[in-house]
Amino acid sequence: MRILIVGTGYVGLVTGTCFAEMGHTVTCLDIDEQKIQKLEQGIIPIYEPNLDEMVKRNTAQKRLVFTTDYSEGVKNAQVCFIAVPTPSGEDGSCDIQYVERAARSIAQNMDDYKIIVNKSTVPVGTAAFVAKTVNVALAQRGVEIPFDVVSNPEFLKEGAAIQDCLKPDRIIIGSDSPKATEMMKEIYSAFTLSHDRILVMDILSAEMTKYAANAMLATRISFMNEIADICKKVGANVNEVRKGIGADNRIGYSFLYPGVGYGGSCFPKDIRALISKAKEVGANASILEAVDEVNYKQKKVLGEKMIRYFSSRGGLKNKTVAVWGLSFKPDTDDMREAPSLDLLHQLLEQGARVRLFDPVAMPNAKKLVPEHPNITWCNDEVEAASGADAIALVTEWKQFRLVDFKPIQSKMNGLAFFDGRNQYKPIDMKTKGFDYISIGVPDVLQHT
Ligand SMILES: NC(=O)c1ccc[n+]([C@@H]2O[C@H](COP(=O)([O-])OP(=O)(O)OC[C@H]3O[C@@H](n4cnc5c(N)ncnc54)[C@H](O)[C@@H]3O)[C@@H](O)[C@H]2O)c1
Repeated sequence: MRILIVGTGYVGLVTGTCFAEMGHTVTCLDIDEQKIQKLEQGIIPIYEPNLDEMVKRNTAQKRLVFTTDYSEGVKNAQVCFIAVPTPSGEDGSCDIQYVERAARSIAQNMDDYKIIVNKSTVPVGTAAFVAKTVNVALAQRGVEIPFDVVSNPEFLKEGAAIQDCLKPDRIIIGSDSPKATEMMKEIYSAFTLSHDRILVMDILSAEMTKYAANAMLATRISFMNEIADICKKVGANVNEVRKGIGADNRIGYSFLYPGVGYGGSCFPKDIRALISKAKEVGANASILEAVDEVNYKQKKVLGEKMIRYFSSRGGLKNKTVAVWGLSFKPDTDDMREAPSLDLLHQLLEQGARVRLFDPVAMPNAKKLVPEHPNITWCNDEVEAASGADAIALVTEWKQFRLVDFKPIQSKMNGLAFFDGRNQYKPIDMKTKGFDYISIGVPDVLQHT
């Protein structure tokens, strides 16, 4: 099948590359000329494990090409996937202006039947809006060309995107056209050889499925963060409680980890967009509002723990804090709505000095963090800890899990460890000489 992917970001590049890997002929289009130039030179603009070699292989075999030219991209394609950003508007609703522009550009360049697929996460009703946008653009051209709009939301996780894309749990196809449904099934046939994972449904339900899935996952996170707070206050250990409830088949272990709140380019904006949609249609969204509010507070929890800890130690002003991990989760360079940004803001507000390190997200972090005399960018976690009064673990990169603390401690000024991801055993950290403060677990201090 000849496929066009409009928007060559985390979703578009991964999806396009996986389609090419499965034998389709794919054009990835973007309006960002620099991005396309880099891709043409074999430079991958995002960090995603294993993506690099797959892009290079499929480019070399001419199944994957890049362009900024809509006329070339649309003309050659049977199916056009839209994978452009859908950020939060000022009121929290989903801003679909990029989807609208992409749909219009497709319509301005098509000259035969196309299937237009919404892969971006878009509010219920957007497929109809895209159809209207295309019809208006075709009418302006004075042409009548048949097309179908399909909803095919994406569920990949950054950091495991290739695996998720090649072996999805399910493929949702929202369609009201038997012809489009059959073509979509054909596109995905190579992904479903072991068993059928395709769920065909009406378009509105497909659009809603994506939001409901993200809302459920975000709810589990905020729920556990709330349970962690209660655990802390009653003296229970949330790590034990998590295992105790996860063992129940009805609950399961996934997404039960308390931490510093969810971030990234999806959960925060998608929860806000669903709340906004609920309000628009007069539905109650009190659970979703609570999920969002708990998360807002949770992003400040680690900073508050530090303020409390240092309040009896002369305050945070002029103290030095090493921040380990900046991306919103491991194995990605994505800094969008990362909890590290909230912590950084709190620490600078208190007059602390911060020494930052992330294995891959520092270039993106530097774009978001304003220059400040109290910020030092470091080359590794050991350098970050040098001269620090405390370490704050914000992103649970694997390389932080089995660090040799001895040489690190010898360079530190104090021995406080704030674990925003509950990565270490409190008793081990106490034995190593740290004051260890984590999430939902009793503090382990050397002198109480
Ligand atoms: N990132 C994820 O993990 C993830 C997972 C599932 C779904 N989604 C959804 O997928 C969509 C895309 O997300 P992303 O993270 O890939 O975004 P992104 O910002 O990484 O990439 C989007 C790309 O679209 C390009 N673009 C914008 N307008 C365009 C236009 N008119 N024509 C061509 N290109 C255009 C941008 O230049 C950018 O390169 C969003 O709706 C998001 O919610 C994202």
